[in-house]
Amino acid sequence: MKNSSFFYRQYDKLKWANQKKTKVNFEIFKAIGRYIKSQHRGPLAIFDIGCGIGSLFDLLTHELRKQNDVIFEGCEPSAVNYGYFLKKAQSTFKKSTKITVKNTDFLSVITKTKFDFITAVYVFPHFIAEQLPMTARKIHTMLKSHGRFLLVVANESYLRNRLQSEKKIFIEKNTLLFHKRKFEEWMHYSDIRQIGTVIDLNRPDAYYIELFKENRMNLILTKVLKDSGALCTLFVFEKA
Ligand SMILES: C[S@@+](CC[C@H](N)C(=O)[O-])C[C@H]1O[C@@H](n2cnc3c(N)ncnc32)[C@H](O)[C@@H]1O
Repeated sequence: MKNSSFFYRQYDKLKWANQKKTKVNFEIFKAIGRYIKSQHRGPLAIFDIGCGIGSLFDLLTHELRKQNDVIFEGCEPSAVNYGYFLKKAQSTFKKSTKITVKNTDFLSVITKTKFDFITAVYVFPHFIAEQLPMTARKIHTMLKSHGRFLLVVANESYLRNRLQSEKKIFIEKNTLLFHKRKFEEWMHYSDIRQIGTVIDLNRPDAYYIELFKENRMNLILTKVLKDSGALCTLFVFEKA
C-alpha cells in the first residue's frame, strides 16, 4: 500500500501545465460552471480540492465575472502544480478577485469559510482508502446547510472496460470494507496526453454513494461527461 503523499508527489514529476494546451478536463469545468450558474444567485463561496494549476478557477472567475461577491478557496499539495498556479494567478486574476489557495493536502486545510460548493475533479483517485471517511466528514463540516459537493471520477463502466481490454494499465485490486459492506478498489495507471502517467485508485459508484450518505450528504444528480476521449461521472451530493 502506498502512502498518501505518494499520490500528490507524482505531480511534481509531471507537466500538468500542459493542461492549457491539451484542454484536458475543460469540458468538465464547463459543465461545473453551467451547473453552479444555474443553481445559485447571490453571494457565493466555492472551494476546489486539488485545484492543480487553477484551471477550474480560470473558468469560474470568467463565468461569474458579473458577480462581485464570490469567494474562491482551494488547496494544491504538489509544489510544482502550486508553483504554476501562483505564476498564472498573477497574470490571470483581477486584483479584486477573492482567491486563496494553500499549498497543502485537503485534510490539512484550515479555513473558517463555509461553502456553497466544494469541487473535486479527479482528486479522489489520489486519496488512499484510510483517508476517505475523514475526507467526507471534513467536506460536510465545510459546507453551508444545503451546500453541494461536486465529485468527478472516472466513469465506472468505462473504467471497467478499459481495465479488461488494456491489461497493462492494471496494477492491483483491493477490497474496501465500509459499514460491513465490501467494495472493490482498482489501482491502475492513467496516461494523460502530453502530461504524463499517474497511478490512480478508483472505486465503484456505490462506494461513494454510501460514503457520503453515511456523512449526511445525499446524491441529487449523476451525470456522465465526455472529456478528451474519456468518460467520467459527475456526482452532486447535497448536505442534508
Ligand atoms: C488529476 S489532477 C487534477 C487537478 C485539477 N483538479 C484539474 O482538474 O485540473 C489531481 C490533483 O489532485 C491533487 N491531489 C492529490 N492528492 C491530494 C490531496 N491529498 N489533497 C488535495 N489535492 C490532492 C494533485 O496534486 C493534483 O493536482
